[in-house]
Amino acid sequence: MKALVIYESFYGNTEKIAQAIGDVIGKATEVKVLKVDEVKPEQLKGLNLLVVGSPTRAFSPSPGTKGFLKRIPTDGLRGVRAAAFDTRISEDDAKPRALRFLMKTFGYAAEPVSKKLGKKGAEIILAPEGFCVNDTKGPLKEGELERATAWAKQIVEKL
Ligand SMILES: Cc1cc2nc3c(=O)[nH]c(=O)nc-3n(C[C@H](O)[C@H](O)[C@H](O)COP(=O)(O)O)c2cc1C
Repeated sequence: MKALVIYESFYGNTEKIAQAIGDVIGKATEVKVLKVDEVKPEQLKGLNLLVVGSPTRAFSPSPGTKGFLKRIPTDGLRGVRAAAFDTRISEDDAKPRALRFLMKTFGYAAEPVSKKLGKKGAEIILAPEGFCVNDTKGPLKEGELERATAWAKQIVEKL
């Protein structure tokens, strides 16, 4: 069993979530936690589990995440189990308030990442999840690392 947790992170918050998820998966199987720009295409070969994490940027995945997904060939994730997460600002914390409407309408990063992984042939084994920061640079909201641990445990249960 070979597993990868891939993430992009500008201020370290998505990285912390990715590491927490990697720690849980690492108890069950061999796993590498890598920055998205460190991943070489050959590392996806023979992969059994792929978890992708992205900060939400303008209601979308971050540029590095988008680029990574784009570079995966059609059917490149056939036989791979996958799940996606993002970090985000919760609607309740959005300033100005008008932003809340846009967040509700245009969403966050994890959902489109998950869809794209599925389009590349992966079997999505867990619904996409978002983990909240207090503000643009963080920190993570209280309890989010614990929620990430619980989310990762659900992944391990499905392996
Ligand atoms: C240019 C920019 C755009 C952003 N757009 C959104 C957004 O649309 N929705 C959201 O919830 N958070 C948004 N954020 C906040 C990021 O989600 C937050 O910075 C990120 O979760 C921090 O993760 P990181 O430390 O791993 O980079 C934005 C931040 C920046 C700098």
